[in-house]
Amino acid sequence: MENKLIDEARQGDALVVTGTQKPGSRKMYIESYGCAMNFSDSEIVASVLTDKGFVTTSDYKEADLILINTCAIRDNAEQKVRNRLKEYNIEKRKKPSLMIGVMGCMAERLKEKFLEEEKIVDIVVGPDSYRSLPSLIETVEGGQKAVNVLLSRDETYADINPVRLGGNGISAFISITRGCDNMCSFCVVPFTRGRERSRDPESIVSEARLLFDQGYREVTLLGQNVDSYQWTGGGLKKDNPSPDVLAQATTFAQLLEKVALVNPLLRIRFSTSHPKDMNDEVLYTMARYENICDYIHLPVQSGNTRLLEMMNRGYTREWYMERINAIRRIIPHCGISTDIITGFCSETDEEHKDTISLMEWAQYDFSYMFAYSERPKTLAERKYKDDVPEETKKQRLYEVVALQQKLSGARTKLGLGKVHRVLVEGISKKSDEMLSGRNSQNTVVVFPKGEFKKGDYVNVLAERCTVATLIGSVV
Ligand code: 5AD
Ligand code: SF4
Repeated sequence: MENKLIDEARQGDALVVTGTQKPGSRKMYIESYGCAMNFSDSEIVASVLTDKGFVTTSDYKEADLILINTCAIRDNAEQKVRNRLKEYNIEKRKKPSLMIGVMGCMAERLKEKFLEEEKIVDIVVGPDSYRSLPSLIETVEGGQKAVNVLLSRDETYADINPVRLGGNGISAFISITRGCDNMCSFCVVPFTRGRERSRDPESIVSEARLLFDQGYREVTLLGQNVDSYQWTGGGLKKDNPSPDVLAQATTFAQLLEKVALVNPLLRIRFSTSHPKDMNDEVLYTMARYENICDYIHLPVQSGNTRLLEMMNRGYTREWYMERINAIRRIIPHCGISTDIITGFCSETDEEHKDTISLMEWAQYDFSYMFAYSERPKTLAERKYKDDVPEETKKQRLYEVVALQQKLSGARTKLGLGKVHRVLVEGISKKSDEMLSGRNSQNTVVVFPKGEFKKGDYVNVLAERCTVATLIGSVV
C-alpha cells in the first residue's frame, strides 16, 4: 500500500488515547500496524464504538475489547501481528470475557481461516465492514465467533467523524479514497482493500474545517493513489454520470485547492502519489498555494523498465524521470521521497544497479526500502518465480539503505544557512528545552523553545544538522 508518510516509522506503535472513562463503560484498546490508512481507519472504528458506549484505554490489560488493525503487505508485518496475538492470549486466559478482534488487511486476506488458525480471535472484520462492529460484538457476547469481510464498492465512511487517536493535536489524517485498482503485481492491497472509490469532496472539506476549528494545523490527505481521486457526484469514479452530476466533478488537483482554501494556516500534505497518474495540474496547484506543502512521496519501486513492466506499474524509467523533472521545474524546492523494492522476481545485478543510479539521479530526501516478499494471490505470485535468493535481496537492500543515508544527509545539509517556516508539533524528543516541527519539505527542524507552543508557525534559521534533522534558532 502506497500510503505512508509514517508507515514504517510508526509501525508497531500502539494508538493510545485516554478518553473520559465513565464508570461502568466498557473499555476498548486499539493497536494499529502498517500504513497511515490503517491508523486513520482505527479512528473511524473508535468513533463507531464510542457511539456504542465504549471508552478507549491505553492499557490492553484493562480492556474488555482488544482490536488489532493489521497489515498484510509483507510477511514480516503479519508475523508481528501473530506475536502480538499471543501476548493478548495470556490476558484472555486470565479474563475469558475479553474479546479479541482482528481488523484490516490481514483479516481480509485470511478471512475465516483466522478463526481456525489463531484460536484466540473472536472477531474478524475487513476494512469495509467497520460499521458492523457493534453487531459483531453482540454475536460474540452471545457466545459465537463473528466474521464480516465483505468488501464494498461505495463505502467511504464519509459521514463518520473520526475520534482522533494518539496524535499530537496538530496533524491529522483525512482519507480521500479507499481501495486500489492498480494491480501492481507484487501488491496484496487490491485484494484486501477492494476497488478504488473516492469520497465526497464536501465531506473532506468539512472534516478539514472541523479539524482547523479544533486547533489542528496540518492535514494529510490519504489514498492508495491520490492522483486517481475523482468525484463524479455518485462516488464511483468510473460511473457514467449525468451532466449536472458532471458539473460537480472534482479531480485531485481541484480537491487540493478546496482544502487549501479552508484556511491559509492549515497545512496540506498528501500521500501517496502514483508516477503514472501524477499530472502537472497537481504540481501547479501545489505551487500556487503556500499552505500545500512542497513534498511529494512518489514511489518508484525499481529503476529498471523491464522490472517496472513486470511489476505492472504502468510507467518506464524515462517516464518516471520526466515526472521528477516536472516536479523540480514547477516546485523547485520540493522534497521528494520514494519506495523501493529490492530483489523482485528475476532482478539481475545490472537491473539492481539501475535502481541505484536512479536514486542517485533523483537525489531523494527519503526512501522506504523493502526486500521483496511474495504475497499469496498476487499477480507476481501466480506469474513469476520468487527466484532472487534471500541473501541477495538483503544485500541489495543494505546497498540502497546505505545510499539513501548518504543522499538524505546531503539533502538535509542543503537546508543549512536558510530560514525555514516550521509548524511546531511539540517538545523535541532529545531535549525538553527544544521544540520540534517540520518545514514544508517534511524535514524535522529543532530549535530552543522560547515562548512558542504547539501549533505556532515560526521561522527558523538552520545552523547545524544531523542526517535528517536541522537545528537552528528562531529569527
Ligand atoms: N514486498 C515488498 N514490498 C512491498 N510493497 C508492497 N508490496 C510489497 C511486497 N510484496 C512496498 C511497495 C509499496 C510499499 C507501501 O510497500 O514499495 O509502495
Ligand atoms: Fe500501491 Fe500498487 Fe499496491 Fe495499489 S497495487 S496499493 S498502487 S503498490
